[in-house]
Amino acid sequence: MEDLYGHLISYLRVSITDRCNERCLYCMPQELQEWLPHTEILSYEEMIRIVRVAASLGVTKLRVTGGEPLTRRGVLEFFRQLQAIPTIRDLGVSTNGSLLGKPVLDHGGKTMAECLRHYGVRTINVSLDTLDRATYARVTGRDYLPRTLEGIAAARAAGFRHNEIKLNSVLIKGSCEDQLIPLIEYAGEHDLLLRFIELMPVSTREVLSDDNFYPIATAKRRIEDHFGPLMPTPNFQTNGPATYYRLPGSTQKIGFIGAMTNLHFCENCNKLRLTCEGKLRPCLGSFLEFDIREPLRSGASDAELRQVFLDVVARKPKQHDFRDNYQPNRKMVAIGG
Ligand code: 5AD
Ligand code: SF4
Repeated sequence: MEDLYGHLISYLRVSITDRCNERCLYCMPQELQEWLPHTEILSYEEMIRIVRVAASLGVTKLRVTGGEPLTRRGVLEFFRQLQAIPTIRDLGVSTNGSLLGKPVLDHGGKTMAECLRHYGVRTINVSLDTLDRATYARVTGRDYLPRTLEGIAAARAAGFRHNEIKLNSVLIKGSCEDQLIPLIEYAGEHDLLLRFIELMPVSTREVLSDDNFYPIATAKRRIEDHFGPLMPTPNFQTNGPATYYRLPGSTQKIGFIGAMTNLHFCENCNKLRLTCEGKLRPCLGSFLEFDIREPLRSGASDAELRQVFLDVVARKPKQHDFRDNYQPNRKMVAIGG
């Protein structure tokens, strides 16, 4: 699938739930939110059908997101079925990490991370904004730092190595400054690929105030003050919007995801998103969304569902609208990072 701007679409992010066991400031609006009723959420069977259609159109990479995807019942069986789709070569999950170390009773007490590996998950992205327990509790609304670190250890113990575990760290002014160096050191010690992410106005625009926004350029300067000049790594790409640098005198790489300040951010976009209630979104930073649940539930053929994908791709914007006083219309937690 190719859009009007020459982007080849090969990557689908699938949000399987709007529920989460954390409450990150930048993801969930502060007002109390109702979860979507179960009937509105796509069943796994429906999602598999949509993924098969996407795969027939050249999608080879999938990332399962949420909410917190590991909270949805039956998620391992879902991974097993995704793994069985022959053209899907790259299966990943984005998680807050708090459940990765949890023993799964109907898998002989193996950890969730071991089960994910067993069912073909190749990469795990873990959100980790801080190593300070009180800050973690304030930003995520839950005192889960210890279990998240245990979760990361469980993923390593399950055999996920180096680029297979990525840490995503959202930059928040006032709480990230003193964490940049500790996070880099932690990632280095545990051989994890750390990426710093600029805050985006995804759930509410308020989070993006001058009081909270911390640009990549400032983070980079602070890191260089400590470690020395960062070395560009033009040949190292992980198939996403991050730009990677190497620490001087080290093999450790650090990524920067500058959705707000990097004007080239959208140039290599290869993604579509499926929300848990069956909307296809051509771009995280755009209002556009197209319902695929209704045709699916009213008996559309594969050819008709393929046409929905092609229509969505044809409407994919050149770039996101985040810089254009974008007012989010739904909470991040229901879109899936
Ligand atoms: N801005 C930037 N990143 C965000 N994430 C969630 N909400 C936002 C936001 N408003 C990140 C989380 C997670 C990933 C799925 O998306 O850190 O790692
Ligand atoms: Fe949950 Fe992730 Fe959103 Fe935080 S960012 S509330 S962990 S879905």
